[in-house]
Amino acid sequence: MSIGSPLDVREPAADWWRQAAIYQIYPRSFADSNGDGIGDLRGIIGKIPYLVALGIDAVWLSPFYPSALADGGYDVDDYRDVDPRLGTLQDFDELVAGLHAANIRLIVDIVPNHSSDRHDWFREALGSPRGSAARDRYIFRDGVGPLKSEPPTDWVSMFGGSTWEPVGDGQFYFHLFAREQPDLNWANNEVRADFLETLRFWSDRGVDGFRVDVAHGLAKDFTEPLPTFEQLGSARTTAEGNHPYWDREELTEIYAEWRAVFNEYNPPRIAVAEAWVEPHRRHRYAAPTSLGQAFNFDLLRANFDAAEFREIVTRNDVFAKETGSSNTWVLDNHDVVRHATRYGLPKDDSEEGDELVQAWLLSRGVEPVEDHQAGLRRAKAATLFVLGLPGSAYLYQGEELGLREVADIPDSQRQDPAFFRNPGVDAGRDGCRVPLPWVADAPAFGFDATGSGRAHLPQPSWFRDYSVDVQESDDASTLALYRVALELRRALRSGEMLTWLDAGSDDLLIFERPGGWIVATNFAERPQALPEALVGMVAVLSSDSGRARDGAIDAETTLWFRRE
Ligand code: NOJ
Ligand code: CA
Repeated sequence: MSIGSPLDVREPAADWWRQAAIYQIYPRSFADSNGDGIGDLRGIIGKIPYLVALGIDAVWLSPFYPSALADGGYDVDDYRDVDPRLGTLQDFDELVAGLHAANIRLIVDIVPNHSSDRHDWFREALGSPRGSAARDRYIFRDGVGPLKSEPPTDWVSMFGGSTWEPVGDGQFYFHLFAREQPDLNWANNEVRADFLETLRFWSDRGVDGFRVDVAHGLAKDFTEPLPTFEQLGSARTTAEGNHPYWDREELTEIYAEWRAVFNEYNPPRIAVAEAWVEPHRRHRYAAPTSLGQAFNFDLLRANFDAAEFREIVTRNDVFAKETGSSNTWVLDNHDVVRHATRYGLPKDDSEEGDELVQAWLLSRGVEPVEDHQAGLRRAKAATLFVLGLPGSAYLYQGEELGLREVADIPDSQRQDPAFFRNPGVDAGRDGCRVPLPWVADAPAFGFDATGSGRAHLPQPSWFRDYSVDVQESDDASTLALYRVALELRRALRSGEMLTWLDAGSDDLLIFERPGGWIVATNFAERPQALPEALVGMVAVLSSDSGRARDGAIDAETTLWFRRE
């Protein structure tokens, strides 16, 4: 494929991502090979047979670069190396080879909006005068007021507190996230060129693609007069594309340069944007001339509710077709409360859709009461619904075990900056990042392969019942369900069409895929009659022990059928 040409979606090898099941590994919490309580690359290598048995197409690896972990590794000291606690470049090469030999692709997280404050460039900037080339790689500005001691604006960072940090000489640097994450200046050519080199560095090592962190944030324009934080409001975009730091027009050019690099490879490297923008702006990231795919996070904010799910699917189907990309479905990731917990709490109709969840987290999981059983039943029904849809399914480690959020982590053991910078307001994201339980009767539930019993976040005792070994010996386990569903999904994804069937009830969603696959989800708390056309058909798979019985579908259940 020639440089700069759009991704050719007709080429089978280049198509792999369009309907892939991509499993996110948060490396520090997946599997620890050497007993220091921190998951590592050799830990992942040891679990390749597990990934094969699960039936995924690709792994998305969250940051594994050298980092002080001010933000779980999203504070990168060096973009072209491996954190020594996680392994070496040689381990990385072995991981790529091992996954590829198992027919699993690998995409890595790339964090271009900000480096860490320990990056060589940032150290150099701090040691250089105002106006220097070294400071131009970041965003430095003079303070205001007679002593230049006030921050340039009153803007609040994503983790709370000012977006500006003083450096002691009258200047401040800008950071959208933690103060240890200074934002890079994407108007600087050296920054742009260096990232192209990083993309080639990992592509040459065999990675199949990239997940682009804060893809909507890179471009900035801080020309005065600058709006107040109140004037900015909560919007992450403006109709003119001139928000000072979100979703700006210049991003189009930046990602066209990236696309040219991706297309130097055969098959082209893929990319998926983390872009929290209005759905109608997503095409700027998802277009084949841009990154190629963009996350749709709509389901993270939705209740387990038929009308909400149908609206989200319909809307996103239109967007995916308009852009030439494919859909992305996400129920869980390392930034949100696990879906087995979200669906175990009462429905939340707040604007952001997460007020109740936040209240629950802040109460340490006490108020409102979480219904574990219902939460898991709905989570499994939602998963089978999503796995039946056309597009890529992004799964997050531990959801295949039916894990719910760990809400009662003691303050002294928390790690997330969102918690520390917003005392009493934000409980942080540690509860979905607890090291996985592999073996019920082993120290640290087998997270650590040496038996040292160490785990960098405390694991609750209930993890025992959710451990991999327990679930592997139970055909009715959540893990068994994921395995069967992912295997069947390979046949189900024969085309990207979806046709809604008349379900005859507001609580029932039924759609058909090419090849005669039919997915039916009952969102109600009571059984529902199935439409005439499905009565008598035998379900191939059920999200719960529930089946189609006497022409009805059980409460909060998804069934997969296949026409003869
Ligand atoms: C999004 C990542 O998913 C999140 O974990 C991180 O804190 C921010 N970007 C900042 O890099
Ligand atoms: Ca380790």
